Amino acid sequence: MRGKRVLLIVGGGIAAYKSCELIRELRRNGCAVRCVLTAGGAQFVTPMLLAALSEHPVHTSLWDLKDEAEMGHIQLSREADLLVVCPASADLLARMATGKADDLAATVLLATDKPVLAVPAMNVRMWLHPATKRNVAQLRADGVEVLEPDEGPMACGEFGPGRLPEMERIVAAVRDRLGRSQFQAQNTVRAEPVEALPSSGDGKDGSPSTSSGRTGVSGTGDNSLAGRHVLVTAGPTHEPIDPVRYIANRSSGKQGFAIAGALAALGARVTLVAGPVALPTPPGEVRRVDVETAREMAAAVDAALPADAAVLVAAVADWRAEASAAKIKKRAGGPPPALSLTENPDILAGLAGSPDRPRLLVGFAAETEEVIEHAVAKRARKGCDWIIANDVSGNVMGGDANRPHLVTAGGVESWDELPKAEVAARLARRIADALS
Ligand code: CTP
Repeated sequence: MRGKRVLLIVGGGIAAYKSCELIRELRRNGCAVRCVLTAGGAQFVTPMLLAALSEHPVHTSLWDLKDEAEMGHIQLSREADLLVVCPASADLLARMATGKADDLAATVLLATDKPVLAVPAMNVRMWLHPATKRNVAQLRADGVEVLEPDEGPMACGEFGPGRLPEMERIVAAVRDRLGRSQFQAQNTVRAEPVEALPSSGDGKDGSPSTSSGRTGVSGTGDNSLAGRHVLVTAGPTHEPIDPVRYIANRSSGKQGFAIAGALAALGARVTLVAGPVALPTPPGEVRRVDVETAREMAAAVDAALPADAAVLVAAVADWRAEASAAKIKKRAGGPPPALSLTENPDILAGLAGSPDRPRLLVGFAAETEEVIEHAVAKRARKGCDWIIANDVSGNVMGGDANRPHLVTAGGVESWDELPKAEVAARLARRIADALS
């Protein structure tokens, strides 16, 4: 973090006072901090206080002639290495999600070409409101990293998610984001024109690898996916029933994350759309978009296109419930509530039929019986190029090994039981061969 420049945007809310501690922590770690204070934020902390802590003038207005002459809002938005919005109020998130430019903070966020990290803090009902959820999903799909707030007692007397995360977590997220953008800056290359894909993945090894002089993070020197963009989905989705309950599945996300890491290790630029899992982002040029529901995942996949290849590993919930805005209560002697389910969009099938279809589309099939037969039928039904079929009747979901079958137009190839990292490395190699 040493020598990095952070533009801290302080939104309105009681947690604004914690931005003072954040400035001190960032500066203790060697970052230079400049502040933009919104009108709401100024109800809780003063420009004088932030200026004293950051040792820089504080910017508060879009219409300040002196500020505009000296710095200008565009320059302000570009001069930093990272923009941190803390606290990010519900209102500021909404304005960011809709691209408003109605004050200095929103304008700077719209004008920036730098990564943005938002640290929300608000009342629990506001955080759980469908409008805020929509805004957060949109921002994540746009590439903004939005931290999950902490859960606990709130200043307003209520209890639940919405508290500003612990300072340690915020500083760790800033460090992680700065580290990733440094890697991206060092490794950004122009995408090469893409040639035709061989008719099927026939598993021929030893194809010559493309080389743009860039090295993947594996240290092997193999960067055959340099200049390629690969989209990966991973983990489960959670479909809310009410503010405290959801429909989920046992997917751990391990296999998808390992695949994202293996692709990045071959030099690919990876967009990893992750359901709710507590896994670290793999090293390399991996842009992670955290989502919760199937519909958010579908939107994030759409926003990440175009891609040269897509590997959809996520265990997407097939159905969602009509979520109740309030917690569903037990009724003494009454019948249990009936869940009315609606089918979720099929992301893989949608991508297969899309005009932006990636040249190589790989799906996964989780089966508990007649694994290969179901996978062969699924490949045809969903319109993808390859299917990796898994027998999930054991402890594959959440475990560390897999015994996959690779189903292509050319036939079925059964692999031995392998650690998930090894499955990922093999698959990444095959993808590199197919795209070359
Ligand atoms: N998939 C998807 N969107 C969905 C459901 C599944 O993109 N709504 C993708 C998964 O990521 C995976 C593939 O489709 O790559 C197969 O998922 P699977 O759960 O095995 O299949 P289902 O579509 O649920 O079919 P079935 O219920 O018949 O097993």
